[in-house]
Amino acid sequence: MPEDLVQKHFDKEAENFDSIYTGQKNAFSRFLDKKLRWDMERRFSRTIEECGDVTGKTIIDVGCGSGRFMEALQDKDPKLILGVDFAPTMLEIAKEILFKKKPDSPCRFAVGDYNDLSFKQPFNITIGIGLFDYIAKPLPMLKKMRQTTDGKLIATFPRRGTLRAGIRKIRLSLHKCPVFFFSPDEVTDMLKKAGFTDVKQEIFGQLIFITAM
Ligand SMILES: C[S@@+](CC[C@H](N)C(=O)[O-])C[C@H]1O[C@@H](n2cnc3c(N)ncnc32)[C@H](O)[C@@H]1O
Repeated sequence: MPEDLVQKHFDKEAENFDSIYTGQKNAFSRFLDKKLRWDMERRFSRTIEECGDVTGKTIIDVGCGSGRFMEALQDKDPKLILGVDFAPTMLEIAKEILFKKKPDSPCRFAVGDYNDLSFKQPFNITIGIGLFDYIAKPLPMLKKMRQTTDGKLIATFPRRGTLRAGIRKIRLSLHKCPVFFFSPDEVTDMLKKAGFTDVKQEIFGQLIFITAM
């Protein structure tokens, strides 16, 4: 199953992945991140911006990884932030970061495949950043997000046909981790099929950044 390969990859690479945020890597890797991954910084700031005033709101971060978006949001008085990820090591790092900084954190966690989880209440905001890169067919997940969000979806999709897409495909295939790319039209089409009506897209770097309601 491709999901098992993705889960294994991120469980093994969790520390390494989080070093993109901490900068705890050698000077050459930091230089490459600055040059090639500037769009990750932008997706971070745009996501926090798009969340707006989260006071009293409920948020789900699907594929939350090491919890860096949750970290930025937890001080803004949300009612709940649920981080979901199927890589347990990622969630261990996230818990360490979030509860160390804020012992009474509103963050909670669910370990497992988002597709297999059920929720009693819809969330005001659903975040899916750097998630669809690893989903071959996003439509069922987007439909679930539509059903379980009563406010806004904020997500990114990696853009097909960029030079970096080719390089990433090769690099991740060496780690036996599948990765998928999409065109802007395909993304709009999937969001509409999932039931979202108000869809906005921005393209920067290798990313398609979307908000949808
Ligand atoms: C590239 S990381 C992004 C982490 C975080 N959103 C960020 O941008 O810093 C993608 C994460 O999605 C998780 N993931 C992928 N598919 C998933 C699924 N179906 N259910 C839960 N987690 C998933 C992976 O384990 C990984 O931690």
